[in-house]
Amino acid sequence: MTAKHLLKMSDLTQADIMEILALADQMKFNQQHNLSHRALEGKTLGMIFTKASTRTRVSFETGMFQLGGHAINLTPADAQFGRGEPIEDTAGVLSRYVNGVMIRTFAQKDVEDFARYGSVPVINGLTDDEHPCQILADLMTVREHLATLAGLTVCWVGDGNNVCGSLIVGALTCGMKIRVACPEGYDPRPDVLERVRNNPGFTLLRDPREAAEGANAVFTDVFASMGQEDDAPKRLADLAGYQVNMELLSLCAKNVVVQHCLPAHRGEEITAEAFAAHAKEIYDEAENRLHAQKAVMALLMGERD
Ligand code: CP
Ligand code: NVA
Repeated sequence: MTAKHLLKMSDLTQADIMEILALADQMKFNQQHNLSHRALEGKTLGMIFTKASTRTRVSFETGMFQLGGHAINLTPADAQFGRGEPIEDTAGVLSRYVNGVMIRTFAQKDVEDFARYGSVPVINGLTDDEHPCQILADLMTVREHLATLAGLTVCWVGDGNNVCGSLIVGALTCGMKIRVACPEGYDPRPDVLERVRNNPGFTLLRDPREAAEGANAVFTDVFASMGQEDDAPKRLADLAGYQVNMELLSLCAKNVVVQHCLPAHRGEEITAEAFAAHAKEIYDEAENRLHAQKAVMALLMGERD
């Protein structure tokens, strides 16, 4: 793998993604067959969380344990960065103890600064801008269900948020077409739009039905992300027409795969009925966080060629 860190989806080439997904499939097979894969024996991952998490926290910690290593959870309530210790010092010092750091926080710049000031691999576990680990799991899940990635058409319906931005880059890198349907004011980040401006595989639409037409996979996420709680009433009203429901799914390919990074708000971005009809794929997606992240950690933190 060429990348030294996973700070954003565009850090990965198509070959990097394919290498991660191949190893992730192997990790999953090994786990299902009770074969151990102790690629990180004796190594430690530092985990910094300044936002809530269920899946990311548990999958990284469990993944390190399964790989023969150990993970330490650090939050602002119990670490000195919560009392103002600069990133420069936290990164420099943690690099003397641990073999890699996973960070979930608000500003993308903080994750990038951490990588600059530290000397160990840094993995983005979600920022306001990006969620690359989620998209690796999603790509793994779509490939499991539909046997391929290149040539598929996927759509995003809802807020053009962090998960959406990483999906656009990841999908296009893998040779998929992606249509994004969101209302004005909820577009993906300008730098993502600039990056894909001339890519014929990308389409930005206002009509969710147009985006869903014949799609092989449909993605959505909450209408108010972490940190946007105060704006939630306005966001829910503005995004109300961008719900994944049975009527929208009836426009998609017959074997459409529905993906939701979770947590889900049934009755907002997805109906309870649509969620229930596709819960298997959504839970597979959540499970695959574990396998995909074990692959990322083994490639970034294990012995390198
Ligand atoms: N999808 C995801 O990142 O879930 P958590 O917020 O529970 O980690
Ligand atoms: N867009 C959501 C994803 C949660 C996993 C958020 O940032 O809160």
